[in-house]
Amino acid sequence: MSQRVRTAVFPVAGLGTRFLPATKAMPKEMLTVVDRPLIQYAVDEAREAGVEHFVFVTGRNKSVIEDHFDRQFELETTLESRGKLEALKELQRDLPSAGHTSFTRQQEPLGLGHAVWCARDIVGDKPFALLLPDMLFKGEPGVLKQMIDTYEETGGNVVAVEEVPESEISSYGVIARGGGPDRGFEITGMVEKPKREDAPSNLIISGRYILQPEIFSLLADQPRGAGGEIQLTDAMQTLMTRQRFTGVKYQGQSFDCGSKTGFLTANVVYALDRDDIRPGFLRELRKLDLEDRL
Ligand code: G1P
Repeated sequence: MSQRVRTAVFPVAGLGTRFLPATKAMPKEMLTVVDRPLIQYAVDEAREAGVEHFVFVTGRNKSVIEDHFDRQFELETTLESRGKLEALKELQRDLPSAGHTSFTRQQEPLGLGHAVWCARDIVGDKPFALLLPDMLFKGEPGVLKQMIDTYEETGGNVVAVEEVPESEISSYGVIARGGGPDRGFEITGMVEKPKREDAPSNLIISGRYILQPEIFSLLADQPRGAGGEIQLTDAMQTLMTRQRFTGVKYQGQSFDCGSKTGFLTANVVYALDRDDIRPGFLRELRKLDLEDRL
């Protein structure tokens, strides 16, 4: 039987240069889709999949993420005294339980592979989930839960993938597909940010992984790859010679909130899907004469 995945790693050290000036003093993971920060969606998704310990690999300017996952007694007392009990309950529900968060710093921006490696001592010798909070998924169940369902059958390493148009392929890690069904096929190769003509498929790595701890020793010696950064994809490609990698073409919709258009689209879709916001939001949208603007 495969060992249970109880720990998830969230790399949140990126500089967020694509969202300046919004991210000059505020981490990009705290940008909100409607009224929840991106990092909260990723934590919710992990919790739904059975994760109990949340490891954040942070950098400068990120202490607000630590505050976000802490109790705020002044706020809680105020909400209570004003009778806003629903809001209070929701805040408490969002919090991981005491002792179940860890924070470590990536001291230099050397790439995703290096960020993951920084979590090695906290994760230890166990399989773990890795969630890139830029990628937001709307799915029932969530993408990580779908992956865990596959992992329970296959063990090893599991990577969520999705199809993208050819023009977007070179912005991502891309996999080569072997045999098996959409919900659990063998991955036979992967390459980080290939040229369009060199890409092995149009299936990209979507930012959700279940990894075995052997990845850490490979990351320790991983030479720099695409963009001069230490790439997780390169270390996974090496690990693939020794361990199984399974691809899961997940069901649901993804929003790349690392890009402005993905982020804005997510806000529109999440707002329209909220019963408390939809009617008023639609009313305002209709006033905009969108036909003229589109
Ligand atoms: C990272 C990964 C890449 C993956 C992408 C998903 O790239 O290296 O393989 O496809 O996340 O968002 P980054 O977005 O950090 O350039």
